[in-house]
Amino acid sequence: MKIMILNGPNLNRLGKREPAIYGYETLEDVHNNLLRVAERYLAELDFRQSNHEGELVDWLHEAADKSYDGVVINPAAYTHTSVALHDAVAGIDVPVIEVHISNVHKREAFRHHSYLAPACLGQIVGLGTYGYELALQTLLQKGESSC
Ligand code: DQA
Repeated sequence: MKIMILNGPNLNRLGKREPAIYGYETLEDVHNNLLRVAERYLAELDFRQSNHEGELVDWLHEAADKSYDGVVINPAAYTHTSVALHDAVAGIDVPVIEVHISNVHKREAFRHHSYLAPACLGQIVGLGTYGYELALQTLLQKGESSC
């Protein structure tokens, strides 16, 4: 099984960026935790991060064209603005789970709406970086049961 892990803008600065909200773990720490989960399933992970909306769109297309088994995405601020990312997720036949480290519903009103969520298999918010692990585990279990 092959899963793409996508992170949107500013998440390259995880660990340094507003640690009171996002914690001190870096994106590399998150990736290492995910690798431990993937090992148990002999799954392959493909980690990507971009500060550019179009690049994230291209990668979602690539996930479909190269037959990935799922995508975990934290679209970061593009969650709340991007019709293009909604359309990219809606237009691919790959299960996508949206993750947010913080509880966006406890924060500013502009973070309460997600353009992507209606096109996703599910959404995990507010569980810290553990949300990525739960999302990955869900996709891997789903992939196993459909083999
Ligand atoms: C975030 C929440 C978004 O509102 C914010 O723009 C981010 C991170 C999260 O993981 O909690 O960059 O997606």
